[in-house]
Amino acid sequence: MADAIAIFGGARRNGNTGKLIDWVGRELGIEVVDLAEKQISPYNYEHKNIDDDFIPLMSQVLNYNKIILASPIYWYAASAQLKVFIDRASDFLDVDDLKHIGRKLRGKVGYVVCTSINNEADRSFINSFKDTFKYLGMTYGGHLHANCKDGYFPDNYAEDVDRFVKIVRPSDLFTNV
Ligand SMILES: Cc1cc2nc3c(=O)[nH]c(=O)nc-3n(C[C@H](O)[C@H](O)[C@H](O)COP(=O)(O)O)c2cc1C
Repeated sequence: MADAIAIFGGARRNGNTGKLIDWVGRELGIEVVDLAEKQISPYNYEHKNIDDDFIPLMSQVLNYNKIILASPIYWYAASAQLKVFIDRASDFLDVDDLKHIGRKLRGKVGYVVCTSINNEADRSFINSFKDTFKYLGMTYGGHLHANCKDGYFPDNYAEDVDRFVKIVRPSDLFTNV
């Protein structure tokens, strides 16, 4: 079984980021979950939405050691769709019955896949993920960024995708032994 899963949040499934994370997903042989197919509502202090799709999705995600979050960069930040998902991690911090689930995030590795119209991912965007992973006790594993200023051109990203996939993929050093 693959030891990674990808969560995609964006405003269009087959846009630049959707295509990029699908490519990564194919290379790694992992599932890409589209948040648009889930009913996950914004964080609620009274947890009135506790029965939506967030807890079942997180229960699935916690089966994996590596979690890839994929989002376009919208206004120096994550997409609203992915931000809603991240905000809901607070459910694990303040609902007693869920705290044991939240603790299972500790030690997992988080990665980011993103696109924008700049040469590099904005520092503020990447730092928000690094800080969030750290707060949750996770390790930051690295990111893949594609500049889509002139459109989506896979040839431009092939080397970066290859490098990223090698970072995420478990070492196969011993497979021939
Ligand atoms: C609402 C919105 C905000 C954006 N903000 C930024 C930004 O802050 N920095 C940037 O480089 N590109 C920005 N862009 C461009 C997108 O990041 C870029 O076109 C991206 O590849 C879109 O991915 P998608 O097709 O998956 O939505 C923005 C685009 C939109 C629609």
